[in-house]
Amino acid sequence: MEKLNQNKKQKILKKTIKWSKEVGKYQKEKINSNISIKSKDTEIDLVTEIDEKSEEIITNHIKEEFPEHSILAEEKNSKETDSEFKWIIDPIDGTINYAHKFPIYCISIALKHREKVKIGAIHVPTFNETYTAIRGQGAYMNGNPIKVSNCKNLNKAILATGFPYDRKISAEDNVDNFRKMIKKIGGIRRIGTAAYELTQVARGVFDGYWEMKMNPWDIAAGTLIVKEAGGQVTNLKGEEIEDEPFVIAGNKNINEKIIEELK
Ligand code: IPD
Ligand code: CA
Ligand code: CA
Repeated sequence: MEKLNQNKKQKILKKTIKWSKEVGKYQKEKINSNISIKSKDTEIDLVTEIDEKSEEIITNHIKEEFPEHSILAEEKNSKETDSEFKWIIDPIDGTINYAHKFPIYCISIALKHREKVKIGAIHVPTFNETYTAIRGQGAYMNGNPIKVSNCKNLNKAILATGFPYDRKISAEDNVDNFRKMIKKIGGIRRIGTAAYELTQVARGVFDGYWEMKMNPWDIAAGTLIVKEAGGQVTNLKGEEIEDEPFVIAGNKNINEKIIEELK
């Protein structure tokens, strides 16, 4: 069995930050250029050549440093091994933003050990912000501790959410939830990047967040960062999650109030 001691966790986090900044710099340089864009499963789910190249850069680093580890990467560089370690990577969270040159997007990298996310890093190139967490050791923005908000009143809460890519063909489109919530809360934002929205919950800028049909790469790092910032991340039953499709995040009060409204 492979161990993950304190020293190793710190070293891995350092490397993770370095890789995310390396691709962040590349993404920032390329955002205003003429980028090739393709559709994936639905015509509105996009991938750019920059997503693909970024993923290749990150996964090449991982393959070189940790050749035995599994990788779950959004685009095409996943690999399954029998290691207890699994990297979960979203090379650009907010691809639609990126493809449209709207500059809020991020790189999300998480490392699971024995099915639990132990390390998470989300780098936001435009703002030069890097959000990090090691399980049990708090959450940080550029090395400074961050905390979820202490808002208790849903009526005043600022939340974030998103709508799934299959919303044109599926009845489970989050529109009913949105309709319900918008009447009860202080305000809502739809930034277009789940990982970034989770960092803003962790930082206490947003009081809560919910979204459905998420993939592990959208939320693995963000979930750990919110929990380590003192927040709660659950499914609709109120059970703490690592990376399930229905995600409700917030400080404890707001997480429970969102569940109450949506269940
Ligand atoms: C998407 C973003 C978006 C969310 C979608 C995700 P992508 O990820 O996080 O905010 O609403 O569900 O798929 O496609 O930009 O990596
Ligand atoms: Ca994503
Ligand atoms: Ca992506």
